Amino acid sequence: MFDVLDRLPPDPILGVTAAFRADPSPHKIDLGVGVYRDERGITPVPEAVLHAERALIAGQSTKSYVGPLGNLEFNARIVELALGPLASQLKERIATIQTVGGCGALRLGAELIHATSPASVIHVSTPTWANHEPLIGNSGLRLERYPYYDAARRDVAFDAMHDALERLPAGAVVLLHACCHNPTGAELTPAQWRLVAEIVERRGLLPFIDLAYQGFGDDLETDVIGLRVLAERVPELLLAVSCSKNFGLYKERAGALVAICRSGTTAAAVATHQARIARRMYSMPPDHGAAIVARLLADAGLRGQWQQEVEAMVARMKSLRALLQSRLQARRPGTDFGWLTRQRGMFSLLGLDEPGLARLRSDFHIYVPPDGRINVAGISAANVDQIADAVATLLG
Ligand code: LMR
Repeated sequence: MFDVLDRLPPDPILGVTAAFRADPSPHKIDLGVGVYRDERGITPVPEAVLHAERALIAGQSTKSYVGPLGNLEFNARIVELALGPLASQLKERIATIQTVGGCGALRLGAELIHATSPASVIHVSTPTWANHEPLIGNSGLRLERYPYYDAARRDVAFDAMHDALERLPAGAVVLLHACCHNPTGAELTPAQWRLVAEIVERRGLLPFIDLAYQGFGDDLETDVIGLRVLAERVPELLLAVSCSKNFGLYKERAGALVAICRSGTTAAAVATHQARIARRMYSMPPDHGAAIVARLLADAGLRGQWQQEVEAMVARMKSLRALLQSRLQARRPGTDFGWLTRQRGMFSLLGLDEPGLARLRSDFHIYVPPDGRINVAGISAANVDQIADAVATLLG
């Protein structure tokens, strides 16, 4: 059976970690996989999350199944966190399933679209997260691209994006990053979100929103402005939520797929399809991470504490952006590095060419994915000069 298989190349993002570990240099720097790190280089579990986890374990009396839709309290609370006051207004029209992290939500959403309308095309930004294409494409949906990033201005190429959306046929699915665009860090303004919502509604497109970094751009509310503009306006929307980053629950795989439907009757039907797709693929999601989130969000004290911890993480990432910007500016006064602090979230693209990226690894022992994305949470006071020396040298 298996002798026909050849070895596959490493995953573009996860492979960076393996290459980093294999480098014996004491000066190596890992700016690869998108996990938050504190000043010690550790990916912490927020204190509020640990509190909720301890209380959960202390009160747990059974490990019986949760069911294909997962933890229903988690589902309701995660919708409320994402949609705010709209959650109760739209309640009847919403069908939510707990998923295996944000990836599980993206895949389940793609499977739902494929089961409903197999000829649908899903349009993703250029560039987009390296795993979007394989993760969604393997459902059988066809992928196409729309322009998103202007590498020269290091900002959203909004005119080109707008024109491309205007040309899409009714029923086309548009994958949008709610905030902290991965890998560019370039964000739509609230006015641009309103324009996107207007086109999506007028042309009958289906927005599929990837919300993996709520709270990591500016704060928990600002980061979902665009999502809420769309949710208020359009009749149908899919939302993939990840609890990996903002709750620090990476390996617990907590996430949700939220479908806003045209009517309550449709939402009830969609929930049965969500459950059936899950049952056929993996039956039901793991409980632990989602149960922690449900408990935390239900407790006003823990919720406030967690919010402060998320604010501290985002403040640190903003300060690291400013630190790298100032060190680069000092080395190359004639070049504008303002984009580093204009962009949001964990990621930015260095803008190095292929030989530059190869030298970044071979000469400077700095590890990034093949698209030249950096995880700004990997920058520290101890390594910023090495990074700035490398980038200032290699930018040409
Ligand atoms: C990333 O973009 O690095 C993260 O979302 C982790 C992953 O699974 O790729």
